[in-house]
Amino acid sequence: MSKITIAIDGYSSCGKSTLAKSLAAHLHYAYADSGAMYRCITLYALRKGVIKDGSFLPEEIIKLLPEIKLSFEFNPQTKSSDTFLNAENVEKEIRLMVVSENVSQVSAIHEVRVHMIAIQRKLGKNRGIVMDGRDIGSNVFPSAELKIFMTSDTDIRTQRRFDEYKAKGQNVSFSDIKTNLLSRDYEDTHRKENPLIQASDAVVLDNTDLSREEQLEFVVKLIHELSHSKK
Ligand code: DC
Repeated sequence: MSKITIAIDGYSSCGKSTLAKSLAAHLHYAYADSGAMYRCITLYALRKGVIKDGSFLPEEIIKLLPEIKLSFEFNPQTKSSDTFLNAENVEKEIRLMVVSENVSQVSAIHEVRVHMIAIQRKLGKNRGIVMDGRDIGSNVFPSAELKIFMTSDTDIRTQRRFDEYKAKGQNVSFSDIKTNLLSRDYEDTHRKENPLIQASDAVVLDNTDLSREEQLEFVVKLIHELSHSKK
């Protein structure tokens, strides 16, 4: 089968990136984390002092867009791609809680979305890509051959994020993480533009009780079925 486009959307901290990365490695495809792109804009705006105490003027963020260059580079150590903001590796910094707390509002700005979506479509123009996010199957690549919509129990999602923060030595409480996940889910599903929705042709993957290997197996099976149906 020739290379296809795979869109993975879903709620915050469902393990979309983990699945997308392992799938891309399995298929020798490119991987793009669209959430990381919105996180970079947010980080840049925080550094520039445009976001103060959780509030900002959208036009101030829009003005920053031409100054921001985003790229992804494969890291042979982690066997995954790192996110670069103006040639600086910001993979760790974009995951900080302060970025998570502001990113949903930044990603709701029309001009930010238009800018990001243009870059995402460019990244995927040759197919052979796995991209994860919120609107990839519904809006960025509406004709993607395979669309996955991921869900998971909220406490399981919170626990996974909590363990990640702990492993990185960051002291964030379980309840702060849960509050952040729920508020981002609300904002992402209720925003006017390109909200998180399940595309009508997406396959639902609830990974509450599934291991990473089982999730990969599930999607690889779907790809096999797809390639047989195309014959
Ligand atoms: O996947 P993530 O949690 O790193 O994404 C961070 C935020 O970016 C998320 O809360 C909403 C926004 N986002 C978006 O609006 N559209 C996407 N395609 C990906 C992320």
